[in-house]
Amino acid sequence: MKLNKAILPVAGLGTRFLPATKSIPKEMLPIVDTPLVEFAVDEAVDAGIEEIIFITSHNKIAIQEHFRRNIELEQKLLDAKKDYQVERINLGKYKDIKFSFVNQEVQLGLGDAIYQAKSLIRSDEFFCVLLADDLFYSKVGVTSQLVEKFKELGKSIIALNKVDSSETKKYGVIDPEKLENDIYKINDIIEKPQSDPPSNLAVTGRYILSGEIMSILKDTKAGFGGEIQLTDAIKHMISSEGVFGLEYDGKKFDCGSKEGFIDANIFFAKKQNLIS
Ligand code: UTP
Repeated sequence: MKLNKAILPVAGLGTRFLPATKSIPKEMLPIVDTPLVEFAVDEAVDAGIEEIIFITSHNKIAIQEHFRRNIELEQKLLDAKKDYQVERINLGKYKDIKFSFVNQEVQLGLGDAIYQAKSLIRSDEFFCVLLADDLFYSKVGVTSQLVEKFKELGKSIIALNKVDSSETKKYGVIDPEKLENDIYKINDIIEKPQSDPPSNLAVTGRYILSGEIMSILKDTKAGFGGEIQLTDAIKHMISSEGVFGLEYDGKKFDCGSKEGFIDANIFFAKKQNLIS
């Protein structure tokens, strides 16, 4: 079962962070000194991913620039005897990784963003999706945890976490059937249930999906909030192929919100002994 590609959608409008996100994707906002997107790419690469497909928008070129070498800056740092900083910016850890960029012309929602990569994903392969604004601190990367379970199950699998009942209306929420400790068979999934959530298990921004999702997304109509929702396509796939959920081990920061972004900065600054 082939799994070596990851899609990172970074084309959202990021309205909660305007004006910072007027010309840069929110995924370029830094946690201490490292853009959110770099954490997600590292997590994917650590899990064995060899091709990263960014879904981006035409006016946001910062991500392309971030993953490209900047020889002039490297030389300036070398001249200034700041060799340790060259290591941080030339990103040699990605030398065997292929980066592709696909444009999402109109921000019609996450489902539409994923669909933009349709020509790069075959129907008989699986791929990861990482939403970089969900940042995790964990001993083993959340994508690696998913990949390990995927190898056993051979089916689509989504990272889940338990949320307070007051929070379920903000997330995709599943109707679970517990199989073992941290693994669930998903019987249904509802995007942002405003009442009667089927559980308190919420979908987080890490997925392994079957390439079949592309043909489902092709016919997925706008749902909650007038957006083409990935959740609605997954709901369809639950009945056609089956989808599983993993309650991952780790701590999540919702860096798409100001509170989560600031919490993450404080947490990682403390880890680096920058503040006490
Ligand atoms: P969000 O809904 O959290 O991001 O999308 P947003 O719309 O950019 O943020 P706000 O709510 O306006 O502040 C989840 C992920 O899906 C991507 C976003 O970039 C983010 O990684 N996305 C969303 C797209 O790539 N395209 C879209 O049309 C929508």
